[in-house]
Amino acid sequence: MNYQIHTDRVLFSRDPMIYGQFLEHFHRQIYGGVYEPDSPLSDEQGFRTDVLDALRQIRVPVIRWPGGCFVSSYHWEKGVGETRVPSFDKAWRVEDPNTFGTDEFIQLCRKIGCQPYICTNAGTGTEEEMSNWMEYCNLVDEGEYARRRIANGHREPYGVKYWSIGNENYGGWEIGAKSAPEWSRYVLESSKMMQHVDPTCSLSAAALDDLDWNIALLKAAGDRLEWISIHAYWDPLWQENKPADYETCMGRTSALGTSIRKVRGLLNAMGLEHRIKIAFDEWNLRGWHHPHAHTIAQGITKDDYLLPRDENDINSTYTMADAVFSACFLNELLRNADIVGMANFAPIVNTRGAIFTHPEGIVKRTTYHVFDLYVNHMHDQVLAQFAYNPDRYSTPGDVQVDTIDLVATRDSDTGALAISAINKHATEPRQIEIALDAPFNQCTMHTLDGDSPDDYNDIGRDSVQIRLNTDGAKLDGNTLHLTLPPHSVNVIECAK
Ligand code: AHR
Repeated sequence: MNYQIHTDRVLFSRDPMIYGQFLEHFHRQIYGGVYEPDSPLSDEQGFRTDVLDALRQIRVPVIRWPGGCFVSSYHWEKGVGETRVPSFDKAWRVEDPNTFGTDEFIQLCRKIGCQPYICTNAGTGTEEEMSNWMEYCNLVDEGEYARRRIANGHREPYGVKYWSIGNENYGGWEIGAKSAPEWSRYVLESSKMMQHVDPTCSLSAAALDDLDWNIALLKAAGDRLEWISIHAYWDPLWQENKPADYETCMGRTSALGTSIRKVRGLLNAMGLEHRIKIAFDEWNLRGWHHPHAHTIAQGITKDDYLLPRDENDINSTYTMADAVFSACFLNELLRNADIVGMANFAPIVNTRGAIFTHPEGIVKRTTYHVFDLYVNHMHDQVLAQFAYNPDRYSTPGDVQVDTIDLVATRDSDTGALAISAINKHATEPRQIEIALDAPFNQCTMHTLDGDSPDDYNDIGRDSVQIRLNTDGAKLDGNTLHLTLPPHSVNVIECAK
């Protein structure tokens, strides 16, 4: 027996916003990504209908926008109204046409039925500029900014609930970076102004798993925040685009929960764990490739700093390593769903995203199918489970990892089970037995594994797909026998 699942011992329910997404004004995420008015594949408002359909399929619950580093010198007013004057984006050193702004972002969210989550400019922006943005979005018809929204053709307020104050303002690479004391005061003042506009807003602030930063922030503004925002990328490809191989990526699953554990500890110590949740609002195995950005030597020619960004579009680099790693991270979010209430895959379209766009259509990269599996097959309640003698194996650098990553969930309406069982091993299948403490009549297994650990999808190549695995799961009374293929993400559903 390898696992015991207690089907009546519910630990907590996960917020569906842990399957959230992120879009930044970077490379082709917005222009040429979700928004391409000149494309024959776009609707009357200029949104790529194939992208919209793919986002609906994975039931995106929330999208964070417009950045990311971009936002720390973005002025939202340039992106609304009849006349849009292009801006020079100082974060990424390109011209932004400003034709995709707040109104277009809200349209996008309405079209796919998700919550908007706006990240504000705490770099060059002021507390007042943030609260004016909230006036534009959330006041009915009072004051200059709500009236401008109405004049721009949007009579009804948008009711944007989720707002983040700043992006990574702790980092020297960020425009308008701040010290911990400066940050705590800035967040206090901006949150005060924003709540004077809309006291029902749900506020987050840029943070990380650093005690000094977080203690200063939470002491000053903890009573005004509902979220603390943290980010993680595990394969740092900013300067050099050499994606780590499958085994190295598996090694990086050994420390998936470190930052969550640290932030949880501090929230507990400050007695805030029941009121403030973690918004893990940027995560991806792969860091984005943008050489000579955020460095002193910014790059002189476009060959230095701009053209290399196209290397993010190489679909063959998004393999089963990305899928297996991402599924392990989603399992980590489920295991911590009592403290992590939102997470945003960074990003969802192009760059390192799950959806790649090209003139004739889209490619659903391996990570897309992980979201399809979890959002459409895993359930809302996280169950207690016990692992007996889990097997481990060694990855490069002699990093020991658990071969299997498993989380059990329960449907609060039907009592049905859905178990995510991941086999990280590149070449060996695994047979496991799970003891259930209740009888189930039938089980179905969906598997995502591809033909090899390095398999991927591309234009004209769809070899990595979710498949019905008819001989992967067998119920024998209260025992579930699973055969997990190598390098596979599996969801097993058991119905009464
Ligand atoms: O590499 C992209 C950047 O990563 C995002 O803009 C920022 O938020 C994070 O540091």
